[in-house]
Amino acid sequence: MDIESIVLASRNEHKIEELRATLAPLGIELKSTYDFPELEEVEEDADTLEGNALKKARYVHNQTGFPALSDDTGLEVDALNGRPGVFSARYAGENASYQDNVDKLLDELADIPMERRGAQFRTVAAFVTDGDSYTFEGVCRGVIISEERGSGGFGYDPVFLPAAYTETFAELEPTIKNKISHRGKAIQKFYDWIENKKQK
Ligand code: IMP
Repeated sequence: MDIESIVLASRNEHKIEELRATLAPLGIELKSTYDFPELEEVEEDADTLEGNALKKARYVHNQTGFPALSDDTGLEVDALNGRPGVFSARYAGENASYQDNVDKLLDELADIPMERRGAQFRTVAAFVTDGDSYTFEGVCRGVIISEERGSGGFGYDPVFLPAAYTETFAELEPTIKNKISHRGKAIQKFYDWIENKKQK
């Protein structure tokens, strides 16, 4: 497979730079939605992470003609039967802030003891080329602690303690978080797959 450029369906500068550096050694140029100002915001209204990731990547591929990559992430809490999941960004309402969402989560889990506060972040990355689509999943297990700790990261990071670590995602060095995280694992799977394809 001869892939020279990929468009990442994201306006998140941090995600773009990180993936650009990851793909550079493979000789793959990473473009982003900033390179295609005519692209519209895709409504993430599918009822699964897979559905949203594929919807975004298909739209960007169809509009630009380039292979497209996207990702969608959710926090799946065991005691809430997997909620907020695909609704993680708007758990506390349509325009909820990260803090609103964390507050609602801690509220809902207030009576749940530590041993039943298991949760996982799950990312699905979708890659769409002419006629083909592929998905790559990354999962990071941990627990939701009862008070926020740390000032790094974003979203639910201050209350997520990854398994086998004593620091929350908001306390860990970003390089460590990226290595063990749901998104890091999904992107690593994509990287391994595309590296393999490039060699054929
Ligand atoms: P997105 O699909 O990357 O936009 O993520 C959806 C929502 O999940 C975000 O708005 C955050 O609330 C949450 N989220 C995604 N990734 C992370 C993470 O690495 N740490 C904490 N929260 C996250």
